[in-house]
Amino acid sequence: NVTETILAPVLEGWYDHHKRDLPWRHTRDPYRIWLSEVILQQTRVAQGKPYYERFVAAYPTVADMARADEQSLLRLWQGLGYYSRARNLHQTARYVTEHCAGKFPDTYQELLKMKGIGAYTAAAVASFAFGERVAVVDGNVYRVLARIFGIDQDITTTTAKKTFAALAARLIERANDPATYNQAVMEFGAIQCTPVSPDCLLCPLQQYCVAYQTGRQSRLPVKAKK
Ligand code: ADE
Ligand code: SF4
Repeated sequence: NVTETILAPVLEGWYDHHKRDLPWRHTRDPYRIWLSEVILQQTRVAQGKPYYERFVAAYPTVADMARADEQSLLRLWQGLGYYSRARNLHQTARYVTEHCAGKFPDTYQELLKMKGIGAYTAAAVASFAFGERVAVVDGNVYRVLARIFGIDQDITTTTAKKTFAALAARLIERANDPATYNQAVMEFGAIQCTPVSPDCLLCPLQQYCVAYQTGRQSRLPVKAKK
């Protein structure tokens, strides 16, 4: 499949020219990357960025966060909502400091064992901090892949999730650099292949994109109404 072969390198090249300068893209510290991903889970980049900067200033290392008292941490979190995320953050910081000799888990499988770290966050930290070749799959990735490959399975179903995960795993095998590729596909979903009015006319994947070729951009991905 030609599209599967070219997608990763094309997205990596696109990313090189279009990426936003974001603070968590200047570090390979797994603690800071994890912190940024937890903040960004239900929060937009513009809103999350000042929180990330305040957290890093208050707690530069995972040991600093482990030592923090819960009230101070929750106060810094104020405005982000979903307070269980902040409590999980604190618990995991303590766990890493006390049970992992302060060394952040450094593989996808080990990261998955941490409280509040699911498949997405584990893949993000493993690839961005440690270069592990494991694909991130989030809402951006579902949208981008559903459109480019014309996948019309309902993304809320287990079958569809398996389809996307398997495709994402094949695609990252073709990447020059797994960390760059993962950032690239998410960034592409955030600023090029957006939920509403994707910028198809200036898209490097136009000629490969099933949604564009068939005029189905606004119908993909398919998501059953709750
Ligand atoms: N959203 C979630 N993770 C992100 C990242 N690393 N960069 C930009 N937006 C994101
Ligand atoms: Fe997305 Fe449009 Fe590009 Fe297809 S052509 S990948 S729908 S921006």
